[in-house]
Amino acid sequence: MAWTGQCPDCREWNTLVEQAAPRPASAPASGKAGNGRNLKPGAPGRSIPLREVEMVNLERFSTGIGELDRVLGGGIVPGSLILLGGSPGIGKSTVTGMALANLQAAGIETLYVSAEESAAQVRMRAERLGPAALGVKVLAESSLETVLGTIESERPSVCVIDSVQTMHSAGLSGAPGSVGQVREAANALAEQAKRLGVAIILVGHVTKEGSLAGPRVLEHLVDCVLSFEGERERTWRTLRAIKNRFGATSEVGVFEMRSGGLTEVLDPSARFVEEATGAQGSVVLASMEGTRPVLVEVQALVSPSELEVPRRVVNGIDRNRLGMILAVLARHARLGLGTADVFVNVVGGVRVDEPGADLAVALAVASAQRGEPLTGPDGRPMACFGELGLTGDLRYVAHADRRVSEAAKFGLSPVLGPAGGESPGGLAPCASIRQALKFAFSGNQASPESAAA
Ligand code: TYD
Ligand code: MG
Repeated sequence: MAWTGQCPDCREWNTLVEQAAPRPASAPASGKAGNGRNLKPGAPGRSIPLREVEMVNLERFSTGIGELDRVLGGGIVPGSLILLGGSPGIGKSTVTGMALANLQAAGIETLYVSAEESAAQVRMRAERLGPAALGVKVLAESSLETVLGTIESERPSVCVIDSVQTMHSAGLSGAPGSVGQVREAANALAEQAKRLGVAIILVGHVTKEGSLAGPRVLEHLVDCVLSFEGERERTWRTLRAIKNRFGATSEVGVFEMRSGGLTEVLDPSARFVEEATGAQGSVVLASMEGTRPVLVEVQALVSPSELEVPRRVVNGIDRNRLGMILAVLARHARLGLGTADVFVNVVGGVRVDEPGADLAVALAVASAQRGEPLTGPDGRPMACFGELGLTGDLRYVAHADRRVSEAAKFGLSPVLGPAGGESPGGLAPCASIRQALKFAFSGNQASPESAAA
């Protein structure tokens, strides 16, 4: 094959790797194969109504970690293949080690394949996790063939491969971690998982730049893709399902890294609201993490820029979304920030991935720009939610009632949100960004209706 430096599809350099080509079943005689014209129909298969298809038993293994089970859709499905991605140091080895410890303690056979760390290093981590973790069987091995052989003979019920990028097969050229090797390893493990009914968790590294190069190519192959996120310097971690054949993808688990491993944070709102300051540029977002309402603090900083193209720096929200929100503020609220640097941060290293976060970003930026804090009548931080339309309207988002009642639970009332739908008590409904800004900066004396007048 000719050397190709640039990918013809994505225009990235040095992303192409050589892979073993599958041997053609039989060389086409005519020499012009490929367009299917030479295919002959084979013997017919038999289709049956779905109701006659035998139901598989989806009895699941509980990992003993409630937040992990919830994100998985109720635990690990036997024979399933799970990809757990995250940046180095985020806690992938810790969470999988803890899960195996609980499973092993419950009498479910486990195997922890460490291709990165020595068995002694794995033991050192296990010591921190408690006595149950020492019952997990470990295999420090990076040869794919040896790992497959071990799984074949030991038949664990749940097996962790840490990490899939460090597995390598002698039969393939290419360095460990190259796309070809990773795909080959994952394919072989997937085949074995299904055949033997072993649930396999593949750990995959994702770089901070969000390049999923390694793991991304595996997403179609696995039943479930989990993403472990957070900042290494902070203790907060969120675990979310990006794909799940056996459950919802909206669930998010929240953890805190402590000295004895990861602890589940059952009431994240309490922690985040406690930290919320109510200072200028700060607002509380009543967000939905899956089916659970969570209050998070959104902060903004606006400062005069010395750059020709001012900075737009985001943490925890999408950068393009900030661009859109700034444009809406400029056009519909006469809040032009064309010569200012704008920084937006979701506190705690949390990511909010829903359009319902728009209003919080807009209000935080406006508050930072005006130098006025956003507080409720009692001096508590203000809570809000809602999506911004390009026309400056505030749009309805799902679960208004649950967002409002979560805020009320922490004494944050009223909650600024979109009008329309069922308006729960405690909601200050606003129809547009202008109305929301008026209400937010009116000292809350006036109702939004009169503020809008
Ligand atoms: P690790 O699970 O090794 O991360 P990954 O496998 O994703 O690269 O753990 C990452 C960090 O967590 C590491 O810097 C040490 C810290 N840690 C604790 O703070 N407490 C603990 O009990 C453990 C096991 C690790
Ligand atoms: Mg690790």
